[in-house]
Amino acid sequence: MAGLTISPSGQACGATVGGVDLTTDLDPRTVAEIRAAWLEHKVLAFPDQAMTDHDLERFTQYFGPFGDDPYFASIDGHPNIAAIARRADETSPLFAENWHADWSFQEFPPDGTCLFGKVIPPSGGDTLFADQQAALAAMPAELRNRVDGKLAIHSARGGYAPDGTYGDDDVAERSMQIRPDESAYATRTHPFIRTHPETGAETLYSVLGYIIGVEGLDGDEEKELLYDLYAWQVREEFQYRHPWEANMLVMWDNRCILHRATGGYDGYDRLLHRCTIGFGT
Ligand code: SIN
Repeated sequence: MAGLTISPSGQACGATVGGVDLTTDLDPRTVAEIRAAWLEHKVLAFPDQAMTDHDLERFTQYFGPFGDDPYFASIDGHPNIAAIARRADETSPLFAENWHADWSFQEFPPDGTCLFGKVIPPSGGDTLFADQQAALAAMPAELRNRVDGKLAIHSARGGYAPDGTYGDDDVAERSMQIRPDESAYATRTHPFIRTHPETGAETLYSVLGYIIGVEGLDGDEEKELLYDLYAWQVREEFQYRHPWEANMLVMWDNRCILHRATGGYDGYDRLLHRCTIGFGT
């Protein structure tokens, strides 16, 4: 047995994992055990892992190919790692403060994300997660009937288009290496309700933000559905608040989880390195 210890957060999702050293090669059995825990808890935190960028890349690839990360420059020498960075004196709007599922506007969005804490402020900067399988399971029939069978229209335009939140007027002030681009205006549809390809569970997918519309609806009906859904999806009972430590790796299942950054650490640097697990399953 690999001897993993798995301690659930006691919140809607999330667990902390011990009994494994992520700086060494993992045998297939350990990887399978981690994958099973990941599918069950959706967000896994591995504290006390003094991982290098190579370790982060190796760990990510146990779970799939690298994802395609648009709109970020990668760190030097590691084309699949992006730095989620904020300087102590930075005043630009917090990065990723809106709820989202990573790159849900892509045709093949990443299955998951691995985020490694390098410089963590003494307080603040938690990441919030919202379990979309739980949100769907508890959804009132009236709301479910309105969304069943509908396609969500996704786009990166609100964030990464030249006139988006992280657009041309923003990047100069920001320590994060964001690269806005015209391609962000593109749209793509995915069903609001999908079947998780590995667990077979029904789950809501993504949220208002990257979702900009509902195919076949417009006006008030479209807006009301998107806002009602949003209000349901991010209710506190579906959330897990994750506090960070340096040398902690967190992986989440992008197919059934929303996440968002939080602030509260002005005056302190924050730096995390991030890889995505590409679509593969
Ligand atoms: C992200 O959305 O990848 C960043 C989350 C965070 O900074 O807490």
